[in-house]
Amino acid sequence: MKTYTTLKLERDGHTALITFNRPKVLNALNTMVATEGLDAVQSISTDPSVRVVILTGAGRAFVAGADIAEMETKTAEEARIYSELGHRFMNALQDLPQPVIAAINGFALGGGLEVALACDIRIAAASAQFGLPETILGIIPGWGATQRTARLVGAAKTKEMIFTGRRFSSAEALDMGLVNRVVPDNELMETVRAMTALMCRQGQTALRHAKTVINRGLDLTLDEALRLEIDTFVDLFDTDDRREGMRAFLEKRKPNFTGE
Ligand code: CAA
Repeated sequence: MKTYTTLKLERDGHTALITFNRPKVLNALNTMVATEGLDAVQSISTDPSVRVVILTGAGRAFVAGADIAEMETKTAEEARIYSELGHRFMNALQDLPQPVIAAINGFALGGGLEVALACDIRIAAASAQFGLPETILGIIPGWGATQRTARLVGAAKTKEMIFTGRRFSSAEALDMGLVNRVVPDNELMETVRAMTALMCRQGQTALRHAKTVINRGLDLTLDEALRLEIDTFVDLFDTDDRREGMRAFLEKRKPNFTGE
């Protein structure tokens, strides 16, 4: 796997693990993190041997947001370049063909919450803290939170988060549907790995198509989205994985998928 300065990219079987790795500044997102993160995601996207991706943070934060020290001296034009780079990174993360799980081990603030929001599933440690505190810095979220948070938990909760900048707990995040699950701190990675193991044994082609249908469907009318489901369901009948999956069930054995 490639090596980076601000993050670690590791491989464990069919799982790729990206760890934001600037613990001294709580993994704050500077331009280098965004550039390396985008590169890591792009390299994973074309690697069919990676079936699931996990994102986490080194030390006591998942990510405490954009690097304020770097942002402080930016001109408006530099801020545009930074925000557009962040959006490219977040879009690439969201569009990864593989399922992506955010293992939220600590602070997920501002851009850190935006990273988690671009993942498919969010599992949080009980002690993690969430928030969109940008307005106290005189800015708004710039890596997608105004839109992705509203789509996930509704406009009213999103406005409350952004207008107050208040930090809130994992329990509150779970209550509003911002995270899928909250687990004791020392069980976070074990829980995430158990989930990836379940995903790895499913038909990979089916799983990737399911992700595409769900994601694309959210931008379509219900009629168009249901049509997309039918078309994708039908397309999968021509795959080896579909033939193998059904044959294995009838022969009472585990399927041996090839991803074809
Ligand atoms: N950028 C740069 N440095 C940061 C940082 C950030 N977002 N967050 C923390 N750090 C640095 C601190 O400056 C500190 O560095 P020093 O040791 O050199 O002083 C170090 O990380 C440890 O942080 P604290 O001493 O502040 O730790 P704490 O436990 O007292 O507080 C915290 C933790 C509540 C997360 C606090 O650090 C904090 O509020 N951080 C900023 C959070 C924030 O505002 N995030 C949003 C940024 S804007 C954004 O993200 C825009 C966007 O949409 C892309």
